[in-house]
Amino acid sequence: MGKELVTCGLPYANGPCHIGHLRTYVPADVYVRFLRMMGRDVVFVCGSDTHGTPIVINAEERGLSPEELVDIYHRHFQDVFRKLRIDFDYYGSTDSETNHRRTREIVKELIKNGYVYSKKIKLAYCPKCERFLPDRYVEGVCPYCGMEARGDECDQGCGRHLEPGEILEPRCKIDGSKAEYREQEHYFFRLSAFKDFLMDFLEHLEGTENAINYSKEWVRKELKDWCISRNLEWGVKFPGKDDMVVYVWVDAPIGYISFTEEYGKIAGFDWKEIWKDNARITHFIGLDIVYHHCIFWPAMLKGAGYSLPSAVVASGMVKIQDKTFSKSRGYVVWVEDDYLEEGFHPDHLRYYLINYTSHQKDLNFSWKVFGERINRELVNTLGNFLYRVMHFTWKNFGEIPEGRVSPEIMEKVERVRKKAVDLIMDYEFKEACDTIMDLASFGNTYFQSKKPWELIKRDRNSCAKVIKNCLQIVKALAILMYPVLPSSMEKVAEWIGLSPERINLDELSVEVEGGVVERPTLPLEKIDDERIEMAEKRLLRRIESMSVEEESRLISPEDFGKLEIKIGRIVTAERIKGSNKLLRLEIDVGGEKRQIVAGFAGKYRPESLVGKQVPVLLNIKPAKLMGVESRGMVLAVDVDGKPIILSPEEEVPEGSIVR
Ligand code: 2FM
Ligand code: ZN
Repeated sequence: MGKELVTCGLPYANGPCHIGHLRTYVPADVYVRFLRMMGRDVVFVCGSDTHGTPIVINAEERGLSPEELVDIYHRHFQDVFRKLRIDFDYYGSTDSETNHRRTREIVKELIKNGYVYSKKIKLAYCPKCERFLPDRYVEGVCPYCGMEARGDECDQGCGRHLEPGEILEPRCKIDGSKAEYREQEHYFFRLSAFKDFLMDFLEHLEGTENAINYSKEWVRKELKDWCISRNLEWGVKFPGKDDMVVYVWVDAPIGYISFTEEYGKIAGFDWKEIWKDNARITHFIGLDIVYHHCIFWPAMLKGAGYSLPSAVVASGMVKIQDKTFSKSRGYVVWVEDDYLEEGFHPDHLRYYLINYTSHQKDLNFSWKVFGERINRELVNTLGNFLYRVMHFTWKNFGEIPEGRVSPEIMEKVERVRKKAVDLIMDYEFKEACDTIMDLASFGNTYFQSKKPWELIKRDRNSCAKVIKNCLQIVKALAILMYPVLPSSMEKVAEWIGLSPERINLDELSVEVEGGVVERPTLPLEKIDDERIEMAEKRLLRRIESMSVEEESRLISPEDFGKLEIKIGRIVTAERIKGSNKLLRLEIDVGGEKRQIVAGFAGKYRPESLVGKQVPVLLNIKPAKLMGVESRGMVLAVDVDGKPIILSPEEEVPEGSIVR
């Protein structure tokens, strides 16, 4: 078997790494480590997804250029992955020169093969900003379910992907003004032409059922062509169109190819071995991007003549304390700030993510369960067995005893190996891990039943035999648990005299060799209950403060009722000396005339205002402006600091109440 590729969904370089990301990356890393232990030649790549409107908008809001923003998070992800031992061979960026080139080449190939057509479509356009509004630059109402939605996705309602031009009542995200629909020529990928291909492709695609079943369902129903051009500066320029870039979902997966190429240059292989010669390609992704990977991406590869994915492995989503994951509501665990910075062990999180539940199910994170799983399961079973045996060996023998391991033990290990490998190949990471943990429990029972601490006093040779068997189990556990707990198991392997190259599955049938051993340290340590409680409190505090923040922005109907707003008619309007912004107004608010100072002079001539009806807030505290008393406030719209006056749609009696 030649080279094969494993990839992970690319994180947007738009915010810090959270536990939801790791739900995909940790199992992928475990899978790759297993494949390598089986002797397979795996290339493991990932990288930052750097384009798309959210990144441009976020950068704008933070006063950074997209490059600067992307750079911050690109480094951040690399750093977190290194600390968690998620060891990609290569971690690239979709903004690399290679990816720009490869993307344009693929789009040109799709055009050449007749899979791209242009069409005039109606697009949201902001007359104030004088620009078309791509994706998240526009907000409005979902045409399918009527909920508030973003231009590219109904994020609060039915979750549908929205094509440009679909959203109703569009508003500009930049200045909030009403957008209009204008015609512009855009480019579409003819996804609908791939129906038969996709039906067949999905019949053969390997991976998790969730990914494949959903996709078959979608293909059976309807395939809509995708608009693949966008009015943005930041991104990969659309071939032949300098004022447009390709849609981010085109250049993002092409990153998988570009990163293979970039890594191939360093490692000395040709990327075509993988992307042109039908090597095995496995994509690990989250459940939310199945459509993109099982439908859009294979169609694009097929249309441009590249190798197709062999397997798509989709992980279930993450919940936090029983609630839907939500950064804005505080239901999130940040890997750097909440976990690593607080001194928790990277291997503990890896174990928890693998062993909490099966790969396709949702993972419901809670600090309490995390603490229990680590202390009661991992440390009590695996940690306890390893340490007991290592410590007993060192204390009583000072070396690994000579002699043979019993055949029953070798067979037991062999059975565990076979079962674990089969489960890993089925992407059943939890079950594989449980199988290995059962071997640790078996080891504990064996040790307990043989009572080596008594045996050593009367029969040193028999005791040595028992310990030799236990050490074989230690060796097996160090190897089999290495993918899940790389840094902890490397230490155990080293203690037993196994160098890193020998951490592989063939070694499981080799008897543990004699040799001097050192005093062991604890291979896995418990977490103090207090630290778990602190972490939990921190999370709850954050959720609380975010909901207080959310609530404090809301006002009750009673609060609103306190505002006394009435319609008045401007009867006098004149400039205030010494100010080129302020006007002194006299307003008839029904049986009473109010003097009000308003900042309208930059926009309106005083004479033009006389006779107009306007809403006035009457019970605002009086103020003095340029020495003139103001008793009330005229409500107006603020557009870039310029006022626009509001008037009732038809004449109303002065003093009419606004509510
Ligand atoms: O959904 C996401 O987070 C995307 N950044 C995933 C891209 S994966 C790939 F196709 F590039
Ligand atoms: Zn909707």
